[in-house]
Amino acid sequence: MEAAGKEEISVEDEAVDKNIFKDCSKIAFYRRQKQQLSTKSTYQALLDSATKGKDSTKFQILNEATKVPLLAEVYGIEGNIFRLKINEETPLKPRYEVPDVVTSKPRTVRLISSSGDAGSLVLADGKGDLKCHITANPFKVDLVSEEEVVMSINSLGHLYFEHLQVPLKKRATKENKEDTSVDTSQENQEDLGLWEEKFGKFVDVKVNGPASVGLDFSLHGFEHLYGIPQHAESHQLKNTGDGDAYRLYNLDVYGYKIHDKMGIYGSVPYLLAHKPGRTLGIFWLNASETLVEINTEPAVKYTLTQMGPVAAKQKVRSRTDVHWMSESGIIDVFLLTGPTPSDVFKQYSYLTGTQAMPPLFSLGYHQCRWNYEDEQDVKAVDAGFDEHDIPYDVMWLDIEHTEGKRYFTWDKKRFPNPKRMQELLRNKKRKLVVISDPHIKIDPDYSVYAEAKEQGFFVRNHEGGDFEGVCWPGVSSYLDFTNPKVREWYSSLFTFSAYQGSTDILYIWNDMNEPSVFRGPELTMQKNAIHHGNWEHRELHNIYGFYQQMATAEGLIQRSKGKERPFVLTRSFFAGSQKYGAVWTGDNTAEWSYLKISIPMLLTLSITGIPFCGADVGGFIGNPEAELLVRWYQAGAYQPFFRGHATMNTKRREPWLFGEEHTRLIREAIRQRYTLLPYWYFLFYRAHVAAEPVMRPLWIEFPKELNTFGVEDEYMLGSALLVHPVTEPKATTVSVFLPGSNEVWYDSKTGTYWEEACTVKIPVTLDSIPVFQRGGSIVPIKTTIGKSTGYMTDSPYGLRVALSTKGSAVGELYLDDGHSFQYLHQKQFLHRKFSFFSGVLTNSCADKRGHHPSKCVVERVFVLGLKKQPSSVTTHSSDGKEEPVVFTYCTTMSTLSLEKLSLNIGVDWEVHIK
Ligand code: NOJ
Repeated sequence: MEAAGKEEISVEDEAVDKNIFKDCSKIAFYRRQKQQLSTKSTYQALLDSATKGKDSTKFQILNEATKVPLLAEVYGIEGNIFRLKINEETPLKPRYEVPDVVTSKPRTVRLISSSGDAGSLVLADGKGDLKCHITANPFKVDLVSEEEVVMSINSLGHLYFEHLQVPLKKRATKENKEDTSVDTSQENQEDLGLWEEKFGKFVDVKVNGPASVGLDFSLHGFEHLYGIPQHAESHQLKNTGDGDAYRLYNLDVYGYKIHDKMGIYGSVPYLLAHKPGRTLGIFWLNASETLVEINTEPAVKYTLTQMGPVAAKQKVRSRTDVHWMSESGIIDVFLLTGPTPSDVFKQYSYLTGTQAMPPLFSLGYHQCRWNYEDEQDVKAVDAGFDEHDIPYDVMWLDIEHTEGKRYFTWDKKRFPNPKRMQELLRNKKRKLVVISDPHIKIDPDYSVYAEAKEQGFFVRNHEGGDFEGVCWPGVSSYLDFTNPKVREWYSSLFTFSAYQGSTDILYIWNDMNEPSVFRGPELTMQKNAIHHGNWEHRELHNIYGFYQQMATAEGLIQRSKGKERPFVLTRSFFAGSQKYGAVWTGDNTAEWSYLKISIPMLLTLSITGIPFCGADVGGFIGNPEAELLVRWYQAGAYQPFFRGHATMNTKRREPWLFGEEHTRLIREAIRQRYTLLPYWYFLFYRAHVAAEPVMRPLWIEFPKELNTFGVEDEYMLGSALLVHPVTEPKATTVSVFLPGSNEVWYDSKTGTYWEEACTVKIPVTLDSIPVFQRGGSIVPIKTTIGKSTGYMTDSPYGLRVALSTKGSAVGELYLDDGHSFQYLHQKQFLHRKFSFFSGVLTNSCADKRGHHPSKCVVERVFVLGLKKQPSSVTTHSSDGKEEPVVFTYCTTMSTLSLEKLSLNIGVDWEVHIK
């Protein structure tokens, strides 16, 4: 797909061209690693010479064939994490180690070492319940917890490490000395792609030669694995057959195929394994092209007579083998030992950070299109929302708003007065997001280009000149965001004085940052392009987009002198991108199957540390029929990042263009989003402070219940709401699985309830959004909806109390100014706790450190599952004042409704129901 070609793509020829993108058979390091497996050369650890440093235990590993020494380091890290690093002991030159992802230096804990049986070494953390059992020959590591081996490393002997070599030509000049470390007979085998690799018309010349690494992990007793986004695949990872590995290689794949393991826009080389009683994480810190193979051996029951008692005991456990392979870099892997899902989330966030606290507006609805044509168009669309009484928060402008795709500029004809346009939005308490891509048009009169050129801020080609590639503006160069100086400079471009026409309601969207290069191999950058520090692009490809979002977020913070929270959406991402904003799933298609797959795709992102994620509502490519659009709004309203978007040449699809009835349905879906804003904001606060995913697969909430492990057509929002979006056309019923023993679930709309785990067939019409509240929860809502979140600051709250089987419930609310960092620096926030117990609803302080005055009142309380009609309801303030409350009780539904209350949200009070 080339520049012009890409713009002209019509819906018919969108099928992803497999000739543009590689499958495993076309990836040389994959072939090499596979070939080695058949020859089986083993590694031996020299444990006798193990040394204990301040932070780690080090020992050599030797390959029996090459004899090139590797150095292994084992670290214990605070919070039950182990880290294993393997590098060449004396590489010809340094190998790339991914910087800037692991937040600050993780605190190490001293491992106590003891020698095990002959030829082994045992490293234990202080508490003694976790042990690393290292076997010398063949080299193997077992992770033992409570005397049980939970994970083995290299037990399949897939450790693979290509040591750097002197290129053949140079070697020849070395006075014809024999170099025994290289099998020269292989060098001519083009097939192995050692120094050169061909793909179509592209030739990748590798100055450093082969440098691939790989390692296997066996997870004992585990059959359920999740993670390694981004793929348009199911939530639970599938077994990979021959040549069918999950690929992590950030690529611009327009209309990506679903149920496919090919790499798309972002990569998080991190997976979780789960079984009842234990969750584990493997974080493979490598930013080069990576492949992951998964193979589950289910539990096999041998009868005692067949196998004898010992064998029966050994064979009965299931096991999943994970094989990581990367093109270059080193082996640097973090083992997160859980044991619970939330422990693993905390361990991972300790390494890579938590979700940035989003500004409140960004949790509202976003309206995007490629493109809103001009200021008039923006004005008309904005007015359309008000005319149709639909709330929304953010207007988006795609690439056409610029002068010839020169980012940081405005097309003078279409947007002659950007500040005026922003004032219009500001008056409605709304925001603007504009796009800023990493490619910079080669045009000496374009100041961004000229400055970057002068300072040498572009990625270079292997000959030393600026790398040039084609993207939207035509021939462009690409900013080298891996260089801290470039990031600093790029950040400065967002100051109001530098970015003419920008105001403080303007936020940023980073797109095409895989990076997308239209005439490049697989539509991306040549792997031998050169970055800061002389690193080849191949070493860090997957982290390029991460750095752009980092610099952009930093720029937005700096323009406000450190006061305001940024909002940056990025298409490409890596582990840790959550610290800088939100992510979306790129160019999906307006088909039911894409609506459906948005759920597992977002669940996977959510559990791998990136909770602020969404899919283009309506589907980016093509024209959704009204029913699909409505269903997509209904689903999107209950997904973390909620943005409608469409490509050029599609029919306009603002929410009111499909007739009154559909407008009503879309309005209702968006209003439900705004009603639940206090709950969303609280969930994001939890993601920010405690690494809890916002959108959760059921297995996280019900970790002991096997029947939740494969569910991906429904999910939890926080721990209180279960959502089952309708993703089938003309649906008249949906089968909803309500998990858990001792749970009670309430239909949010009708109040109907179910006790005990069950699958229920719910009748649906086009206005149904199946949402269920879990007994035992209290969900804070807004009772009045405004034009945008900004209008709702002082609007009243309601509490939806869903009683457990024991008649109790708890919930929380988090509140701050919604935009600044004062919650952090001045502790200007309010964190309240609600509980319902023995007929008393209590509002109390959840975090005494916070203070934030609020005029807001709770005006409505709705109790589900109150089995007995009350005789009186009274409110009790902390100064002892007692007042009666008028109430309505419904005997058939067991619901109690209290209205016209006026209880300040920020002070202690009680409501007594007798
Ligand atoms: C590709 C993005 O995925 C899409 O959302 C955007 O509209 C186009 N680029 C144009 O900028």
